[in-house]
Amino acid sequence: MAKTSLRGRNTCASVSAFSLDAQPAQLDKVVSRIFRPLFANGSASLIFPSIPRLARLYRLFGKIRRTINPMTFMEAILREILYDSSGYTARMECNRKIHFQPGQYFLGNHPDNVEEILPVPLYPVALLDPMLPLAPCPSNWQAGNRILLRGPFGNGFHLPEESLRVALFDWEGLAHLLVPLMQRALSQQAAVVLYASVPPSNLPPEVEVLPLEALSESFEWCDYLAGVIHRDSLAEFYQATGWKHSLHLPAHAEVLVHTPMPCGGMGDCGVCAVLEKRDWRLACKDGPVFSLHHLEVA
Ligand code: FES
Repeated sequence: MAKTSLRGRNTCASVSAFSLDAQPAQLDKVVSRIFRPLFANGSASLIFPSIPRLARLYRLFGKIRRTINPMTFMEAILREILYDSSGYTARMECNRKIHFQPGQYFLGNHPDNVEEILPVPLYPVALLDPMLPLAPCPSNWQAGNRILLRGPFGNGFHLPEESLRVALFDWEGLAHLLVPLMQRALSQQAAVVLYASVPPSNLPPEVEVLPLEALSESFEWCDYLAGVIHRDSLAEFYQATGWKHSLHLPAHAEVLVHTPMPCGGMGDCGVCAVLEKRDWRLACKDGPVFSLHHLEVA
């Protein structure tokens, strides 16, 4: 059973977290500790008997929600396609506001194209755009297309709130996928340097750009390091940087591993497998952002 504090400001969240794995008798005890002072006139006793049943219902709905979520489509209209040296970016108009974390991904389908069966992974390339800008956009998509989106999925970047010196790297022309992370870092007043051969066209002006070859110098000053790379380039990356056994990486060092994700974790197809030191992981569920300290090269 998870140990959950019941004091503090977020009492409702604590009750929810606790009810995930609490036994009914324990749940009664905890809930009574919270509500008894509020219902000192005795009306609380009317509530307590139904709490275990509610907890069971809560767990059931949680399971249903986790199963249904990956299958729920949002319809979007592709309004504009932008092209720069990094490739195509699709700006989508969605009928609702979508919240995501830098590094999370969406799966997109063009349902009117019968040849396009498998969805493609798409990453947001800006935090503050009224439309949803996603890349890399397939070259056969066109403005006006109806796109079915699912997401956001996966684990994004874990930028510590106290980070003030952020170094980012792009190994092969995917730097635009790091722009939401840059914007998040700038919003917490961090200094941000991008090590890349080709900076993205929507690079925030506050971000300094340095050549990729100077990346190892960043270890001396940055307190957070993050990058983006194709999975198939990981071996070449480790060989070129000599990082495989590096003890000098900052404590917080992550990389977004870009790879096909045809089933998005619904079928456990394994196409998106990434090797970590202890085991294989699935980029669609465990990533696409991984700790650089844990990655291994096959
Ligand atoms: S995409 Fe199928 S398991 Fe990850």
